[in-house]
Amino acid sequence: MLTGKSIILGITGGIAAYKGAALCSKLVQAGAKVHVIMTESATKFITPLTLQTLSRNPVYTDTFDERDPSVVSHIHLADHADLIVIAPATANAIAKLAGGHADDMLSTTLLAATCPVLIAPAMNVHMYEHPAVVSNLELLASRGAMFVEPGTGQLACGYVAKGRLAEPEEIADAVEAWFARSRSLAGKRVLVTAGGTMERLDPVRYLTNDSSGKMGFAIAEAAKLMGAEVTLVAGRTIAPPPAGVHVVRVESAEQMLEAVTAEYDDMDIVIKAAAVADYRAVNISGQKLKKNGERLVLELERTTDILETLGRRKTHQFLVGFAAETEQVARYAMDKLRRKHCDLVVANDVSMEGAGFNGDTNIVQVFGEEGLVEALPIMSKREVASRLLELIGDRLARPEGSKHDR
Ligand code: PMT
Repeated sequence: MLTGKSIILGITGGIAAYKGAALCSKLVQAGAKVHVIMTESATKFITPLTLQTLSRNPVYTDTFDERDPSVVSHIHLADHADLIVIAPATANAIAKLAGGHADDMLSTTLLAATCPVLIAPAMNVHMYEHPAVVSNLELLASRGAMFVEPGTGQLACGYVAKGRLAEPEEIADAVEAWFARSRSLAGKRVLVTAGGTMERLDPVRYLTNDSSGKMGFAIAEAAKLMGAEVTLVAGRTIAPPPAGVHVVRVESAEQMLEAVTAEYDDMDIVIKAAAVADYRAVNISGQKLKKNGERLVLELERTTDILETLGRRKTHQFLVGFAAETEQVARYAMDKLRRKHCDLVVANDVSMEGAGFNGDTNIVQVFGEEGLVEALPIMSKREVASRLLELIGDRLARPEGSKHDR
């Protein structure tokens, strides 16, 4: 499963450091090339020689112990890693990563790395539940870190509670599952729209909406992490787009229509998370509009429905629409699915706390031709995106004969 994969295993200073040795052995047996970095405290619990023997590679403990003059070790390791696993991750290691500290070999490598990070925390239950630790874990999750939760049982400190490092088998399974997921959309071309469109009224004013682009960006990022080639057509957004995707910037619904239709034929999956204006000004003033009287009446006309246009022209594409609703969510979502010839519609009730525009979380129900496919509880937009893409991947993998009910 892991042949050819390069994994950095970070072992930090807790009693569970000994389990890091078993994890290292499992990863090596599964075919991974494992480079171990130990913090100074970890070396008090287990020797680097153990990890060197198991990994069959030198173990790094000191940023300044540069053995190969042709490279800078922490940058070289970071550049060549497919995944970094920190197991066990102490409260201190978690805090340092959340705070961006770089004062030893592991923290420096982590800052230099662009690959995903899987964290397996292990500590006393009160430490694990401390607000500082909880908020550090939340911060790391919001940046895309993945976790293998600690188990409940006898802790080294004497408590029977949550905090013990997950078993090495469980962490190795999570690593394999991540690599499997990271290939599940390999070879697929995915087009995602994100953000709100802007309909100009004059050179300084426009009509828009509350979309931040976070939902669409999370989908684009997740698709890329699953191996897809991603094009992101983005309107007005408040955050930078994810790295490694082809970004096309647009303003109006008309420009989004042009950008999306230009790419459509080559795409395998199209996901329309953007909030597109339904109306635009009939006349856009070339000059700033002047105050004239107490009232101003704007004349608006319908924009083209991009999703409906794509649905009509669909050949092989798997088409996913979004539905932002405030009532009768299922009814309106199913209506959009049929009218716009979508394979799936992701409905969010934007009147609910934690759902819809602007925030970091969403609450969605996914509908297919057969009705409700899955209702997801409140979760981060990143998690919604991963789950949605898994659903799409599953449907695309169905045998041809059963494609009619996708
Ligand atoms: O960007 P965030 O702040 O993270 O917020 C996320 C979101 C709330 C914008 C997102 O989850 C969402 O619901 N996006 C769709 C918003 C919307 O326009 O919904 P709608 O029900 O009005 O439109 C239905 C579908 O038709 C959407 O896929 C939309 O992209 C598409 N549409 C609508 C109008 C139009 N002229 N062309 C379209 O393609």
